[in-house]
Amino acid sequence: MPKITLDVIVDLQYGDCGKGKVAHHLARTNAYTHVLRYNGGANAGHTIFHEGRKFVTHQIPAGVFFGIASIIGSGCVLDPEQFFAELAMLEAGGIDPKGKVFVAKNAHVITQAHKEEDRQKGGAIGTTGCGNGPAYRDKYGRTGVRAQDVPDLAPYLIDLYDEWFTSSGDISILAEGAQGFGLDIDWGDYPFVTSSHVTSAGALLNGLPPQSLRDVWGVAKVYETYVGAKPFQPEGAIFDRIGDLGEEFGATTGRRRKINWMHLRTLEQAVRMNGVTHLVLNKLDVLRRAGQWAVIDDGKVVDFPAEQAFVSFVRDRLASFGIKRENMFFSESKEMI
Ligand code: IMP
Ligand code: MG
Repeated sequence: MPKITLDVIVDLQYGDCGKGKVAHHLARTNAYTHVLRYNGGANAGHTIFHEGRKFVTHQIPAGVFFGIASIIGSGCVLDPEQFFAELAMLEAGGIDPKGKVFVAKNAHVITQAHKEEDRQKGGAIGTTGCGNGPAYRDKYGRTGVRAQDVPDLAPYLIDLYDEWFTSSGDISILAEGAQGFGLDIDWGDYPFVTSSHVTSAGALLNGLPPQSLRDVWGVAKVYETYVGAKPFQPEGAIFDRIGDLGEEFGATTGRRRKINWMHLRTLEQAVRMNGVTHLVLNKLDVLRRAGQWAVIDDGKVVDFPAEQAFVSFVRDRLASFGIKRENMFFSESKEMI
């Protein structure tokens, strides 16, 4: 039987921490046979810079940029209309998706009715209006539509069991999550959550055995952002300034993201529950340009006089959560990692 190795990328905050960048980096530098999107739908927006060009993908995983088989997994809900638009967008951008993009036949489908319902009723929690919640509700209510029921998707369908267990060679999978731990259906701030399993465990729900798991790449920012209906951003001009400098607008909906300092307790919980082995902390340059360094620790704002003090404090904390120092990466907006 082929050996299966699984690396997972998971966002530790509320999405938008730079998973696309980390996925692109890992797909470029490791010999993966597959890249798998493991949860969510077209509500995600992954911003990727490939050979100097900017792409925003919503459903198709980053493997497609490198000719690696890219799968939308059984943990996902797929919007066919948006899927075909994304294939066309890639092609127009010089990326050839032919024979590289696949959909698990048991993934569920977002219908027109799901999108309309979400646009009308999603306001109370500030959803992206992509039909994600209604599609998962129908999946679990056992009234949903699966990818295998949509004729247009036939050329893309695969059976994940066959893909993982009947191949002739070893399999090495990079699984990219969507959204973030703070939006997880179980561990997020319910009801201000998304409707899927965002945690690294969600990757396994795509027919993968727990023993296959190798590295878990957690992705966070040095400050927090959130988009949705709950109050999040404290008083203070600094937060608007960080949002402006960090260009914190949604890749899917264009909404302004709410800003706060990084909560260490939330990060600790996310690191532990997801089994994070490697951590990328993005957007250090934004706090540098804003000229203020702070975190929230035990519910209190802790200020630092300068970048170095901030970084060494955060490093020590991450080490106390069990992350090896050589596996911590502080990164800037335009850096590849
Ligand atoms: P839904 O996933 O569209 O149902 O939205 C539920 C919550 O998750 C809302 O607060 C959305 O703004 C948030 N959300 C969903 N997808 C993303 C994402 O990719 N980035 C950031 N927030 C997201
Ligand atoms: Mg995003």
